[in-house]
Amino acid sequence: MLLEINGLTKYFGGLAAVRDFDMHIDEGELLGLIGPNGAGKTTIFNLTTGIYGPTKGKIAFDGKDIVGKKSHEIARLGIGRTFQLNPLFGNFTVLQNVSTSFHLHPRSSLLDIYFNTANYRRNEAYISEQSLEILKLVGLDKVKDELAKNLPHGYQKMLGIARALAVKPKLLLLDEPIAGMNPSEIDFTLTAIRKMQQQGITILLVEHNMKILDLCERVVVIDFGQKIAEGSPKDVRENKEVIRAYFGGERVA
Ligand SMILES: Nc1ncnc2c1ncn2[C@@H]1O[C@H](COP(=O)(O)OP(=O)(O)OP(=O)(O)O)[C@@H](O)[C@H]1O
Ligand SMILES: [Mg+2]
Repeated sequence: MLLEINGLTKYFGGLAAVRDFDMHIDEGELLGLIGPNGAGKTTIFNLTTGIYGPTKGKIAFDGKDIVGKKSHEIARLGIGRTFQLNPLFGNFTVLQNVSTSFHLHPRSSLLDIYFNTANYRRNEAYISEQSLEILKLVGLDKVKDELAKNLPHGYQKMLGIARALAVKPKLLLLDEPIAGMNPSEIDFTLTAIRKMQQQGITILLVEHNMKILDLCERVVVIDFGQKIAEGSPKDVRENKEVIRAYFGGERVA
């Protein structure tokens, strides 16, 4: 098991955004976490990546307890993530956006940088090469010299994923990667996600869009902070609780 979450609970004031939530991800798996708006999906991301501490519960990554660790420590252990509001450097090129993510995890010392040492130059060459590899993987190599702000929305979202790959994550958390995309951008993104999985990256995919279901081997469904179903895409689609959460009551997803 790469990630194991047990009894996870997070209160914001009186509101339980996540309650007694259990979930695990096996190595190499592509797990879908779906649920209607406000169900608690992003909160689970934020708890797993150390943005918030849980009110209660356990989170173990690669056998290590990560509750209480800082975000950068968790990133260093091998969890990469995207953000729902995809922060990019608009005036940087696509390639620069990825290489700056490497600089957040420096391999050169300040002295190396100041004196432009061989070590620094080797590192920079390594970073450019690795950044280009990542851009190829996600299909953005052809636009590497474009400014990020000039990319269409779908490409900007892929660039957010490319930046998350710079930490060489074992586990990649994607928060609504296809939100607001047109059908061709969705195809492009789903192809890239499949390729990343084939390269051995374990992926947790958060979506409220049911379209993503068939890409996943297993799906967990959350509503009002609690798990309401788990299983294959087919099982989940036919599950009464899921149909109620998505299509019943006052809410329409
Ligand atoms: N920092 C916060 N302070 C207070 N309440 C919060 C905070 N973050 C989330 N919430 C609340 O917790 C609940 C779960 O929110 P969360 O963002 O995790 O949902 P989500 O499943 O990601 O929804 P969406 O599909 O809209 O992204 C919501 O009721 C939300 O308003
Ligand atoms: Mg969210």
